[in-house]
Amino acid sequence: MNDFDCVIHGAEVFVGQSLARCDVGVRNGKVAALAERIDGGHSRFDGSGKWLLPGGVDAHCHIDQPPNPGSAARGAQMADDFESGSRSAAFGGTTTLIAFAPQFKGQSLRDALQVYHARATGRSFIDYGFHMIVSDPTDDVLQHEIPALVEEGYTSIKIYLTYEALRLSDRQVLEVLDASNGCGMLTMVHAENLDCILWLTDRLERQGKTAPRYHAESRPMLVEREATFRAVALAELVGAPILIVHVSGREAIDVIAEARARGLPIVAETCPQYLFLSSDDLHTEDGAKCMCSPPPRAKENAPFVWRGLQSGALSLVSSDHAPYRFDESGKLKYGPRASFRFIANGIPGLETRMPLLFSEGVMAGRLSLAEFVELCCTAPARIYGLLPHKGQIAVGADADFALWDPTRKTVINNALLHHNVDYTPYAGMQVTGWPTQVWVRGELVCNDGVLKGALGHGQFLRRGKHGVPMRANA
Ligand code: URP
Ligand code: ZN
Ligand code: ZN
Repeated sequence: MNDFDCVIHGAEVFVGQSLARCDVGVRNGKVAALAERIDGGHSRFDGSGKWLLPGGVDAHCHIDQPPNPGSAARGAQMADDFESGSRSAAFGGTTTLIAFAPQFKGQSLRDALQVYHARATGRSFIDYGFHMIVSDPTDDVLQHEIPALVEEGYTSIKIYLTYEALRLSDRQVLEVLDASNGCGMLTMVHAENLDCILWLTDRLERQGKTAPRYHAESRPMLVEREATFRAVALAELVGAPILIVHVSGREAIDVIAEARARGLPIVAETCPQYLFLSSDDLHTEDGAKCMCSPPPRAKENAPFVWRGLQSGALSLVSSDHAPYRFDESGKLKYGPRASFRFIANGIPGLETRMPLLFSEGVMAGRLSLAEFVELCCTAPARIYGLLPHKGQIAVGADADFALWDPTRKTVINNALLHHNVDYTPYAGMQVTGWPTQVWVRGELVCNDGVLKGALGHGQFLRRGKHGVPMRANA
């Protein structure tokens, strides 16, 4: 008796590639047994009628990021810190997040990391890691810091081809890719062409076109397609793997699919905003609420993103949670009539990522349950060096689970969510299926809408080397 700390019984459990009726025994934060019937347990939880899925891994979120001194929207404050961000993630079925730690020019990566550890330590309900944003690839960064960080469990970095304060030249991209490739660091690329965006923005402003909807016109698909093509070409030249983040539509997906068909180690991520929002959402009075980069595309685009997920051209779905309130602290920092240039980019999405994809993917028949788990849990864990501990339910893995009620109908509204943002772009959407209980390393964090977890239970994750195969589709 009481051999297990916790037993979840009666649920359909996602093991291997499908649901199976079995009980789950948890000991010391790990899955200790999977069996048809497990008796005992210090605590027992009845999961009858529900699906026990691996906890989600959200590998792209911006939390408590300091305002970028070089950005046009400088001064806008992110609404979520690690407490509210991780709480919100947990209520949406996510048990691991990987946030960004940005390096500002003149700063070492190590200093940037320290700032982030100070913000996260003792302040997260779920486990977390960091990707560094490299904006100043000095010799020291390339030769010493990147290899040292890999050894310490920081195995991915993000670089930008846009934003004036962050953009790297092609030469710098080559140098970063070369340094990263040599030591097993995975480079994530934000692929949009800065000069095209600035030229288009100046032209739109001269024409008096400054409303949020012109944000989409300032960075059309071509601008993303060109930068995606260039990122692929630079990676091919070096022979390095890359991960293209927040891919928004057909033209970039075509570039990625072509590169993968040639066997290049290119993987790509998309986000719910490219499936569920469109450029029409920028046309409203409060269009700033849906402003992110790349922007939501024309309505006709979403089926191509679904197809990219089905075909494997897109390997994972992350939120790109970038939380700004719709007030003067965030989106409206420069007033309600400010040009789109001065409106902070980004939308909240940590909590809605999995319910949206579950409902419109699995329940609507666009994705199998196995594909959903792969895209939201297992692939991000594999790619970012977290397997076998995260992203799957298996004996020996961390006991990170979300128990889903697959029939629950929910109309999304902001009052339901647990972030610190005052809106959700998905308000009014009805979804089928929602996680009702969530465990992180065996600790019940959310129970039927009630927070049970302890702040500080979330631990920093030292990650292994990335899992991008050196030949696509290998
Ligand atoms: O608009 C977005 N995506 N803001 C967050 C920053 C980024 O580039 O991902
Ligand atoms: Zn980005
Ligand atoms: Zn982002």
